[in-house]
Amino acid sequence: MVRLLSFIYPITKKVKSEFNGTLEITWYNGKKHLNTKNANYSYGSLQKILKFGLNKMDLSRCNNVLVLGLGGGSVIKTLGKIIGHQKSIIGVEIDPVIVKIAKEEFKLSKIKNLEIICDDASDFMQKNRSNFDLIIVDLFIDTKIPSPFFEIPFWENIVEATSKEGNILFNASLDFKNECDIINIASYLYKNNFQIERLEKVNKTNTLLLAKR
Ligand SMILES: C[S@@+](CC[C@H](N)C(=O)[O-])C[C@H]1O[C@@H](n2cnc3c(N)ncnc32)[C@H](O)[C@@H]1O
Repeated sequence: MVRLLSFIYPITKKVKSEFNGTLEITWYNGKKHLNTKNANYSYGSLQKILKFGLNKMDLSRCNNVLVLGLGGGSVIKTLGKIIGHQKSIIGVEIDPVIVKIAKEEFKLSKIKNLEIICDDASDFMQKNRSNFDLIIVDLFIDTKIPSPFFEIPFWENIVEATSKEGNILFNASLDFKNECDIINIASYLYKNNFQIERLEKVNKTNTLLLAKR
């Protein structure tokens, strides 16, 4: 019923979160989205943006994936279609309210190959000893990427955790922000023998960095 009504007008449920302010779960045109006050977090345009980046990568030999910034998990659903449902995926998310929304509203607890870890992505990367064939870095608080994720120590850990032929997809900005930071990260990855592709104005808004060993 809610789904059908959402074709006539959007229906929104609001949930308060310590990390992300007021979160909105909105039914719109028959599909559920997760938004903050100023940004679409999951499903909707964010899902299209990450899908565009993933489709530019060769993921035929991708066996395990790390997603930093789980949100409502729209990229997990996209990955299921691209790499199949047998491969291992770890999703890291700082906000326990979002983890609950992801499991209950977007049914992520039904995805057997997904392990959800509620932790800060920087702390997780410091402790991590595993390698991944694909690392997706999609860390925002509303429209901003928190500053530690533009600092080299975080990227040292990302490089360390990328497998021999691994890929990185970095959702690097919304609306042309963080230009110097993006150049800095791209040149750090380049010096560490990654091939870099930069995609601008994806879905008219976002900058993506794709890196391949
Ligand atoms: C744009 S959403 C992620 C959307 C998700 N990748 C998807 O495909 O649906 C950004 C997420 O980053 C999370 N985040 C922000 N800072 C974080 C941190 N320090 N550690 C882990 N997650 C963080 C936010 O809580 C939010 O859920």
